[in-house]
Amino acid sequence: MPQPSARTAGFTDSVIRRMTRVCLETGAVNLSQGFPDFDPPAALIETLKQAAGGTEHHYAITWGAQTFREALAAKQSRFMGIDLDPEQHIVVTCGSTEAMMAAMMTVVDPGDKVVVFSPFYENYGADAILSGAEPVYVPLDPHTDQFDPDQLDKAARGAKAIIVCNPSNPTGKVFTPQELQTIAQVAHRHDLFAITDEVYEHIVFPPHRHTYLATLPGMWDRTLTCGSLSKTYSITGWRLGYVIAPRHLTEITRKVHDFLTVGAPAPLQEAAVTALRFPPAYYQQLLATYNAKRDLLLDGLDRLGITHNTPQGAYYVLVDISGYGYQDDLEFCEDLAAKVGVGAVPGSSFFREPVNHLIRLHFAKRDETLHAALERLADMPTLRR
Ligand SMILES: Cc1ncc(COP(=O)(O)O)c(C=O)c1O
Repeated sequence: MPQPSARTAGFTDSVIRRMTRVCLETGAVNLSQGFPDFDPPAALIETLKQAAGGTEHHYAITWGAQTFREALAAKQSRFMGIDLDPEQHIVVTCGSTEAMMAAMMTVVDPGDKVVVFSPFYENYGADAILSGAEPVYVPLDPHTDQFDPDQLDKAARGAKAIIVCNPSNPTGKVFTPQELQTIAQVAHRHDLFAITDEVYEHIVFPPHRHTYLATLPGMWDRTLTCGSLSKTYSITGWRLGYVIAPRHLTEITRKVHDFLTVGAPAPLQEAAVTALRFPPAYYQQLLATYNAKRDLLLDGLDRLGITHNTPQGAYYVLVDISGYGYQDDLEFCEDLAAKVGVGAVPGSSFFREPVNHLIRLHFAKRDETLHAALERLADMPTLRR
């Protein structure tokens, strides 16, 4: 028999998606995989129905339907403070997942090194390997969430690109302008491209503020900003994302994207234009909703005496399980699902370092789901060994 590709030999299946399957088997309240259990805005469902009855059922322009790119350029120009040209600066993709892969293949050749902060969203290591690159990890201090600029500088020597997830999944870290400035200096010093994953750009809890790396002096020309409609409009299944970059890069990203997927779903692009035109009040409401959900979960955990971090952005919280006597956080999560009835993700799936005392919960859930999870988490102490 011929041997299939060795490229994915080191991959396991996604631990996050595996935990969702465990939740389905055990009936656990699923706070593992990060997607909402509530509906998207009603206006979006309406335009989706209209799109279904409309004419857009075939390939859109590969780099994105004209109306979608125009609406996205207008919205992102407002938030980023850059004058984006829908004809030059945008490639519409199947989610940020494809955007990150297409961005990586735009700038990286086999054998190149790519700097990744650890902990990291699990796709990045795989993206680097699939594009033939070698990930080089820079740890974020588990207590302060900060990186050591010297370590970053060392990792960047001879590298081709750096990935920045801001706000971060899983830690909820929001990079400060000063930290981004340090990253920009390193990018200039070592002539790196930057690939950012900013899917949580609108979920940043005050007093923290979101800064787009591409907007720092000198960074536009070397940055590919990846984003998505998945989280902002609660439509993770629509698979709509994008790369924003200068023309000399989007020209290449368009080609990669064309051969990877041809295009994002045409009727869904059509329907989502409505969302991209939502007024500023929508984003204020979104943030207020997630702020309240974060408080609900964190206050509940505090009442139960469960130790956790305080996310600055995104919709995840890391819970410390070091007092429970488990060596293996996956085993803890399996027990948590089967015996306590709550699904979580083992923290080790996000870390390069041997960290196994954390689990990740998420709070993109209806309040009653969060209350149900907290009720069950009252039994978490029974897992102590
Ligand atoms: C940091 C990060 N990037 C990307 C994604 C996936 O985004 P999309 O649905 O746009 O592919 C997720 C989903 O959880 C995420 O947390």
